[in-house]
Amino acid sequence: MGNSGAVAGRVMARRIGSRRSGRPQEIRNPLFARVYDHVLSRGESARMVGYRQQLLEGLAGKVIEIGPGNGPNFPHYPPAVAEVVAVEPEPYLRARAQRAAHQARSQVSVIDGDADHLPAENASVDAVVVCQVLCSVPDQTGALREILRVLKPGGQLRVFEHVDAEHPLAHTLLKAAEVTFWRRAFGNCHPTRDTLTAISQAGFDTRAVRRFVMQAGPAEPPLPYIHGTALAPSQRDG
Ligand SMILES: C[S@@+](CC[C@H](N)C(=O)[O-])C[C@H]1O[C@@H](n2cnc3c(N)ncnc32)[C@H](O)[C@@H]1O
Repeated sequence: MGNSGAVAGRVMARRIGSRRSGRPQEIRNPLFARVYDHVLSRGESARMVGYRQQLLEGLAGKVIEIGPGNGPNFPHYPPAVAEVVAVEPEPYLRARAQRAAHQARSQVSVIDGDADHLPAENASVDAVVVCQVLCSVPDQTGALREILRVLKPGGQLRVFEHVDAEHPLAHTLLKAAEVTFWRRAFGNCHPTRDTLTAISQAGFDTRAVRRFVMQAGPAEPPLPYIHGTALAPSQRDG
């Protein structure tokens, strides 16, 4: 997918966004974006790459990826995925992702937008991918509602997120970090979100999402993660 696809996607995003609930938000994290891009461009651990591969295994059809960053998931989309629309609000990372899109085996277009304004009609998408993103969106409940809107009945939410710690001391330490430096240092990341419960409360079946503790990189403490597939209901009310 070249520039024409990206431009078309941007136009579509604006049109659908404005019809639904106003303009996408402006999200700029210039320092975080550059540091993140630098760190990932040095390469990730084999374990992390493995989790990215597993996250996308078996996908097919039309997929939306929210907040792709500089596009580390793009090489792992299987050829059965006909189209990936990646929605990235941060301009520096969006430009990086647009470059990475050319290396993907699937057709990937990277467009401006945010989790509250996905560029798709109701029940039109086979899968949505969220990878280290639901910790950063301003309105997690609203983002999950929007994901549910665009997914086909029974559609897949592929999720790989770090979440709050269950242990009270670990939770307290994460909360202290969150309210002091963490959100500012890591692009509005909230390390104490109970994202699995939020996904379940939004109406998804989360039985195939598992929880584990991992240290993703040398600069990160061991954190609890969730990884797997949450399913949208197979029937919708109304
Ligand atoms: C920690 S990075 C993760 C990037 C990538 N998904 C990965 O796995 O490495 C968080 C990403 O979420 C994006 N983001 C933040 N707020 C967002 C929002 N409201 N809607 C969509 N993406 C958002 C950021 O710009 C950034 O690209």
